[in-house]
Amino acid sequence: MDKLLIEGGVPLRGEIRISGSKNAALPILMACLLTDGPVNLSNVPRLRDIFTTLKLLELLGCDTEFTQDRVRVAVRDLKSEAPYELVKTMRASVLCLGPLLALLCRAKVALPGGCAIGARPVDLHLKALERMGARFELHSGYILGECDRLRGAHINFDFPTVGGTENLLMAASLAEGETILENAAREPEVRDLAEFLNACGARISGQGTSIIRVQGVSSLRGCDYRVMPDRIEAGTYMAAAAVTDGELLLRDCPFHELDAVVFKLREMGVWLEESDDAVLVRRHGRLVGVDVTTQPYPGFPTDMQAQIMVLMCLSEGAGSIQEKIFENRFMHVLELVRLGADIRLKDRTAVVRGVKGLAAAPVMASDLRASASLVLAGLAARGVTEVQRIYHLDRGYERLEEKLSAVGARITREKG
Ligand code: UD1
Repeated sequence: MDKLLIEGGVPLRGEIRISGSKNAALPILMACLLTDGPVNLSNVPRLRDIFTTLKLLELLGCDTEFTQDRVRVAVRDLKSEAPYELVKTMRASVLCLGPLLALLCRAKVALPGGCAIGARPVDLHLKALERMGARFELHSGYILGECDRLRGAHINFDFPTVGGTENLLMAASLAEGETILENAAREPEVRDLAEFLNACGARISGQGTSIIRVQGVSSLRGCDYRVMPDRIEAGTYMAAAAVTDGELLLRDCPFHELDAVVFKLREMGVWLEESDDAVLVRRHGRLVGVDVTTQPYPGFPTDMQAQIMVLMCLSEGAGSIQEKIFENRFMHVLELVRLGADIRLKDRTAVVRGVKGLAAAPVMASDLRASASLVLAGLAARGVTEVQRIYHLDRGYERLEEKLSAVGARITREKG
């Protein structure tokens, strides 16, 4: 298994271009299933989850092509089964449920199961699709769904689920009549999906708010669409500048989609300034501990929790992080402690007391954002930190070592 060797202590300086958003590209790729003409997407990041999704689309009967940051998808002969071998490697596979039911009135999709950061069930997706007329059975680890044509419904989510809202947006786009989604997720990636669907001819309004209305149409056509930039990648590089005492200019940075993160970083003493198409990030004196609670958008994103924890580890005073989205998303804590951090965990809250410095040690990545936090810690720690199991990083950060090396980091990948 590959590992990263990071020699810490170098202030990062220079420019980084932010890639297209993984979490926006995945649902948009699934939504291509709904179209009857070719779709041309640009700004698609070259990441393992994207390649897995393209494989799934091919198994479901699409032709796909991926060159540089451009993906072309054309539906040829749609099939209704998403097998376990692929779904188990990527939870987002469950997003083909809505499109398959809308188009074929049947779907067989492997149940994604648990993952390193918690139970992550899909009951809210199923309950909402049932309101539109779908019927489900669970059989041998598969969700078997069927329906007559899906019909519009008034759905009030118990929780503003990101994946659930995305599945429903896709299903409702080709359903009969109007669907109203209340307590819908407001994440920018959900809005990007809605805008993509509208570019294909869907009639969606209210995206970005918690009430979304969808007027079903009879078909969707192909289109050209540029995927939004990745706000979590951008936030991670903001943290990298701050933790190394560096200064980075981030191009294509979705600054306004990062309000909650920027607010906390500024409170900690990080200096951030937006210019025309870039954001300058610089550490401004000693960082101070803050209190953070992860929340659905526009609150502080769970996907930035592990990274901000590293900054808090090196701050003056104490701070706390309360994780409200996933019950088990603190796997990075013990690894950070191995590097010398002072963190105490109680239920869903981590109390972090700042220390003067971190010292290198071998650490193991457990999930995507936990891996990012270990890289950040390695960039700040004295000595050479070895981050093992970095295949998680390849799921979510495009050319991470290349981008970091280009701004001065001493980081190398050792093939294993
Ligand atoms: C979540 C994050 C998203 C992040 C992604 C990848 C939120 C609100 N969502 O999206 O920002 O990019 O992980 O890390 O921050 N739940 C159920 N039943 C369901 C669906 C969800 O109980 O059917 C629960 C989950 O267990 C979890 C919460 O709702 O506690 C959030 O789930 P959801 O937003 O659906 O998760 P993702 O779509 O994976």
